[in-house]
Amino acid sequence: MTESRPNAEQSEYWNTIAGPKWLDLQHQLDLQLAPYGRAALEAAHPAFDESVVDVGCGCGATTLELGKRVGETGRVLGVDIASAMIARARATAEASGRRNVAFECTDAQTFPFARASVGLVYSRFGVMFFADPVAAFRNLARALRPNGRLAFVCWQSIHDNPWMSVPMMAAMQHITLDIPADPHAPGPFAFADAERVCGMLQAAGFTEARASAFRTDMLIGGGAPLEQAMDFMLRISPLSRPLAEVDAATRHTVIEAIRRAVASYEVGGIVRMPSAAWIITAQKEARP
Ligand SMILES: C[S@@+](CC[C@H](N)C(=O)[O-])C[C@H]1O[C@@H](n2cnc3c(N)ncnc32)[C@H](O)[C@@H]1O
Repeated sequence: MTESRPNAEQSEYWNTIAGPKWLDLQHQLDLQLAPYGRAALEAAHPAFDESVVDVGCGCGATTLELGKRVGETGRVLGVDIASAMIARARATAEASGRRNVAFECTDAQTFPFARASVGLVYSRFGVMFFADPVAAFRNLARALRPNGRLAFVCWQSIHDNPWMSVPMMAAMQHITLDIPADPHAPGPFAFADAERVCGMLQAAGFTEARASAFRTDMLIGGGAPLEQAMDFMLRISPLSRPLAEVDAATRHTVIEAIRRAVASYEVGGIVRMPSAAWIITAQKEARP
């Protein structure tokens, strides 16, 4: 980690490993994640004419949705550290003719946002990857006007998310997985402890930080039968790397164990697995 590029490791990960998968699977991922993004949008209440920053906007689905909600005189800036995802977001926005959205490939922790320029900072699962979350939220707070709002959705713990824990436990019967020793290390489950997250927001200059639980069945791959859901999961999940590193027989054994574990969640030809997220909201302090 260097001082000038504090998130170099995550940048490398999202630009070379995860980003290409998110580009390939964008449609299924957007369908799968839409309910969580909507729940955060309801909490965010984007207002007509408002300026918004969408943090870790990925391929831009939520940026475009925010663009609709704020109307033609509102503005939305989507920021993401992965250049190919930002290129996809720009192309989609251009094709849709939506003119009130713009995108920046940058690190949201350090990007020099115009001070006190926006009313809302929003994110769908894009804020759990900062090396220094307090510094990142302080930077985002600077972009907010006094009394501006922050609203984002992040995952609760892996144990509360069987869509992740069930395949992992099945795999761990046969192979050893590298589980990060630090539960708060940057990654999808880094914000599982909502009390800690609210504390970090307070330290960064926010008030009224609150977490509310959002639980729903996740439609794997956006609503797919077992074989397609398995294919989707094995491509996107953190298991894809360890599976690529083992011999063919072990890989087959692990995949069969995952398939048996996931099969019981297929109902009416669709795999639905319980999930739990936090909707976090906070306000920028009133003094400038
Ligand atoms: C789980 S994906 C979510 C993408 C998008 N919000 C969505 O819901 O489709 C997390 C995103 O955060 C981005 N990201 C990670 N660290 C970042 C940082 N420091 N600054 C900006 N974006 C970051 C990644 O490149 C990735 O696109």
